[in-house]
This record gives sequence, structure tokens and C-alpha cells, in this order.
Amino acid sequence: MDKIKIHGGNRLEGKIFISGAKNAALPLICASLLTADTITLTNMPMLSDIRAMNALLEQLGVKIDSFNDFLDGHETKTYSYRAQNIENLVAPYDFVRKMRASYYVLGPLLARFGKVELSLPGGCAIGARPMDIHLESLEKMGAKIEIRNGYVHASSEGRLKGAHLIFRIASVGATCNLLMAAVLAEGTTILENAAKEPEVGDLINLLNAMGAKISGINTSILTIEGVEKLHGATHKVISDRIEAGSYAVAAAITRGRIELVNAQASLLQTPLNILRQMGADVEETPNGIIIDARGKKLTGCDIMTDYYPGFPTDLQAQFLALMLTAEGASMITETIFENRFMHVPELLRMGANINVHGHASAIVRGVDKLYGAPVMATDLRASFALILAGLVAEGETIVNRVYHLDRGYEKLEEKLKAVGADINRIKEDD
Ligand code: UD1
Repeated sequence: MDKIKIHGGNRLEGKIFISGAKNAALPLICASLLTADTITLTNMPMLSDIRAMNALLEQLGVKIDSFNDFLDGHETKTYSYRAQNIENLVAPYDFVRKMRASYYVLGPLLARFGKVELSLPGGCAIGARPMDIHLESLEKMGAKIEIRNGYVHASSEGRLKGAHLIFRIASVGATCNLLMAAVLAEGTTILENAAKEPEVGDLINLLNAMGAKISGINTSILTIEGVEKLHGATHKVISDRIEAGSYAVAAAITRGRIELVNAQASLLQTPLNILRQMGADVEETPNGIIIDARGKKLTGCDIMTDYYPGFPTDLQAQFLALMLTAEGASMITETIFENRFMHVPELLRMGANINVHGHASAIVRGVDKLYGAPVMATDLRASFALILAGLVAEGETIVNRVYHLDRGYEKLEEKLKAVGADINRIKEDD
């Protein structure tokens, strides 16, 4: 397994290009299953999760082509998907166990073909993450759902039927899956307490461009008038707000200055306000965000994760790392996932001062210094928190299990090196 080696202490200065959003791209790819026409997605990030989703679609029978593209002088990918000859309606265990988002094939395959078998995802490092809302809602739309041998067997006689759905939790995954089921259903579906995350809005924009009739975008009540058929479309994936927020912290933690090119400030208002409150300068430009913490003394600040537009749980670990370099105490409260402080024991090994209370909150006290150490990543965002700590730690930090980072951070070492970090990947066979 590859490792990442960092020598801490460099102030980061320069520009980082922010890629297309992984969490938007994954459901957008699956929306291609709703039509026999071609769906073209531009500004796609080059990540292992995208490759995994493409491999799943290919084994269903989707024809995929890829092209290199350029956005603001930076290389991006364009993929085209053609789900004309679907030969297989099974999402097998080996795909789902590697990437839970494989469950996004459920809604579209059921809506278009009336049948699908999906290996039921288990829990993961950050929580139990059940799929009950997805499955109950599909049942309310007339689907028959059975769980046998670890698989969800879903079927529908004729088209799914529009229904009034009220979600128990504003789940991003359930909102996307049910949107993709409802667009081809007979009649109108009303989805209450829908997730308002920008990635959901991006999916709605693609579906409407394909001929769907969805109203209520960016609100918690979505109305979907089912149509009989959808057609091809071309869509540009939104920029990755979590990648942007992660590099914003890289600027702040090293007391540097980074321009995040292609970042969309409007999607990051809560985290940017926290950075301002802590004492960093944050400038929103038409094409990005500039974070300037040069010469600043940052002060601690309390954070509570919440549904969008609240503070994203996917930036909690990174901001917790930042608080270690701020003056005073900060309280971090996690409300979305039940086990999302797995980065804390590793940070403690680097000299952090953190007290976790139960599973929900942590008190972080600023320390004079962090010390490099070999550390173990447990999930994607926790891994980036360890990279951030390594960037300011004295000496060498080795982050193990880099495959977590490769799922969600495109060209991580290249991007950090370009702004002055001393960071290298140690290949397994080096
Ligand atoms: C998505 C993101 C993830 C992010 C999360 C919250 C992707 C691929 N992943 O995950 O990075 O951290 O949103 O912003 O986009 N829940 C249930 N039953 C369900 C569905 C969800 O109890 O049927 C619970 C979950 O366990 C969790 C909460 O609802 O506690 C929110 O989960 P959800 O919004 O569904 O997250 P994901 O879509 O899995």
C-alpha cells in the first residue's frame, strides 16, 4: 500500500485548482442509467471512486468513453455514458463493499427496468449508515423489496407510482436515489424533508436537462412530475466544495495564502465564516476564493456539523486539525454520523490536546507544536486531517492507507507541492 511522507513547517502560498465534485459526480453518473441516449459529463474529477462507479456501470452494460479536457488551463476529464444495452441488473457485493455509493444504481434501474439486485452496503468506519429511508420510500412508490443473502431484491410491476414521501432524515443518498426513481414514475411524487446539499441540486439540474419535471430545487420540498421517457444531455459537474474547504484549511493551518481557482464560495459560506471568525482573511472572487492567514494569530472557535447550509460533516476533521494551531479552546460537535472522531487518537500521537466526550463532541485546545509521526488513516476526510497536521508538525509524518485519500482528492501531492509543501508518495514497491 502507498504511503505519503510529509516534512512539516512550510508556509503554503500559490494557486490550487479545485476539481469537480466527487459526491455530485457519483449520482450524476448513475442518472445515465435512466435513458438509452448519451449523457456527457464535463469537469469530472479523476478519482478512484469515479473509476469504481464506471466499472460498475460497465458491467451493467453501459458504454463509456472518456476524453481529456481543459478548464481554465487545467486538465479535467469528460466522460460520456450510453446505457442503451443494459445486460445485467445486479450490483454485486465486490463493487458495493468497495464503494457504498454503488447504491445509486437502485433508483434508476428500478425506474427504467422494473427490477434490480443490489448488495446491501454494511456499516463503515464513520457509522452504521443504514438504507432504510431509500427502501421504505421505494416501497411507498409500489416497489416490492426483499432482502435475501445480503442482497436487496427490488422489483416493480409496471412503472413506479408517484407518492407523498416524508423523509425521517434529510438524507443526501435517499434524496438522490428517490429523485432518480420518481422522474420516470407514473404521477407526481412529493418529497418532503429532502436534502438541500448542492450535490442534490446538481443532480436535479441534469435530470431536468434530460426532460424530467422537478421543481423546488435548493428547498426541502421537491415535486417530481413523472415522465415516460428521458433523453440525452450534457452537464458540467459543480466544483468540489469539500476539496476547496480542505485546501482552505491547508492555507490557514500553515499561515499561508492560497487562491482556490474554480472554487464556488457560495457553496461554502458556513466554513468560510468560521475561517473569518478565527482571524483569517477570506476573499471571494468571481472564479474562486483567496484564503490569507499570513502573519495571523488564529483563535479557536466552536463548530457544530449540520445539514446544508450548516457546517459540513465532511470538513469536521480538517477544521478540528486547524483548531490545534489556534489560540484557546474550540468545541467540535458532530451531529450527522455517530463515529466521526476516528482521527483524534492519531492526532493525539502527534502531540494534540483533544478530549472527546462520548461520540458527539470534542474539546480541542491549541498546542504550541505538533510532532511528526507515522499515522493511520481511517476514512477519506480523516486522512486529510492527518495530512494537514503533518504540514505543520515538526519533522516527518507518514500517512498510511493512502487509498482513502485517492478516493476523493485528485492529484493531492501535486497540488500541495505546487504551493510549497514538502510531500511525497512512497510507492508500495519503493
Ligand atoms: C453523503 C456523502 C457524505 C456526507 C453525507 C452527509 C456521498 C457519496 N456521500 O453520504 O460524504 O458525509 O452525505 O453530508 O455523497 N441515514 C439513515 N437511513 C438512510 C439514509 C441515511 O439513517 O436510509 C442516516 C445516515 O446514517 C446518517 C444521516 O442519515 O447518519 C445522513 O446520511 P446521508 O445524508 O444519507 O449521507 P450519505 O448520502 O450516505
